[in-house]
Amino acid sequence: MKLLVTGGAGFIGSNFIHHILEKYPDYEIVNVDLLTYAGNLVNLAKCQDETRYTFVKADICDVDKMNQLIADVDAIVHFAAESHVDRSIHSSAEFVRTNVIGTQVLLDAALKNGKKRFHHISTDEVFGHLGLDEPAFTEETPYDPSSPYSASKAASDHFVRAYHRTHELPITISNCTNNYGPFHHPEKLIPLAITNILEGKRVPIYGKGNQVRDWLHVSDHCTAIDLILHEGKIGETYGVGGNNQPSNLQIVQKLIALLGKKEKDVTEYVADRKGHDFRYDIDYTKIKDELGWEPSVTLDKGLADTVTWYQENEQWWKDVKSGAYQDYYKMHYK
Ligand code: NAD
Ligand code: TYD
Repeated sequence: MKLLVTGGAGFIGSNFIHHILEKYPDYEIVNVDLLTYAGNLVNLAKCQDETRYTFVKADICDVDKMNQLIADVDAIVHFAAESHVDRSIHSSAEFVRTNVIGTQVLLDAALKNGKKRFHHISTDEVFGHLGLDEPAFTEETPYDPSSPYSASKAASDHFVRAYHRTHELPITISNCTNNYGPFHHPEKLIPLAITNILEGKRVPIYGKGNQVRDWLHVSDHCTAIDLILHEGKIGETYGVGGNNQPSNLQIVQKLIALLGKKEKDVTEYVADRKGHDFRYDIDYTKIKDELGWEPSVTLDKGLADTVTWYQENEQWWKDVKSGAYQDYYKMHYK
């Protein structure tokens, strides 16, 4: 099996590439990534010399390039996206370009090159948000995105389903909750909190910190994608959740305790995010019943491991924060 992974230099994509190369000794991976600010080839340094792994720097909106790459693979696992809500509030054009047009370019190329198997990674944010006592989102929840990010992901999901309905392209989609774990860019809450505390800076808490996210360890997400890719029913969507529902403040408090600090010394309350979704949660009964998947990493264990990872990989996050990580491509590929 030869896979084209898009956005493999990002957080989840790089964890997925390591997962596949370790689990399937006969699989080959081509990783196509534009190396935006979120793409970091250091995440893949461990497989840099692996003969089954190839990196291609390209834009998923490049029609000719995507046709050329897709002609040569068996399946596409599509992670590439602009992924940060705050950036989409500031400026949304790149979100439409990569998340919507890029997905459409890949779908067209998959169609023209023999209807290649296509798995699309999406988010629970397409469903809008929940109150504290409302039941979790399911695969049947109507779409109601709030942010330009979630609107662009919703549009991409619709295109993926439309290519299945119209052209019988063999697709699957997964909508997961907030991931955390190694190689997570420190613009997102958990790595931002850990690295700010390690640097002696404060953690900005939006509003009152009472918003709720469901947290999914990235290794659990990778096993779910692996299962859906190999055993998922064509045309179907699967919700993937972590069964963890703390508020943002509770998450930060857990990290503060793991790092041995006092809350008043390391937190600062800042203006709330515009249109801030209150709560997300996914009911993962379908993937559990159909494919036997359940999250295996508890939040306490996952957070403790993640704190240790950031403590042991100080150079990684310092280089991300300073921008030095971008030298890796120049050193190894030019
Ligand atoms: P990320 O921002 O860490 O990585 C995105 C990657 O895509 C980067 O390597 C970037 O260089 C690449 N990229 C961006 N634009 C590109 C383009 N035009 N062409 C080629 N490559 C491009 O994102 P992530 O957190 O790893 O998320 C991966 C996927 O999972 C995204 O589709 C995201 O919407 C989805 N998702 C993420 C989460 C989460 O908690 N991180 C939750 C639900 C869904
Ligand atoms: P984030 O990691 O950006 O993921 P998402 O917006 O996709 O859920 O944010 C997680 C939650 O943490 C969200 O409710 C916003 C909040 N947050 C803060 O309170 N402070 C921060 O500095 C960041 C980045 C996020």
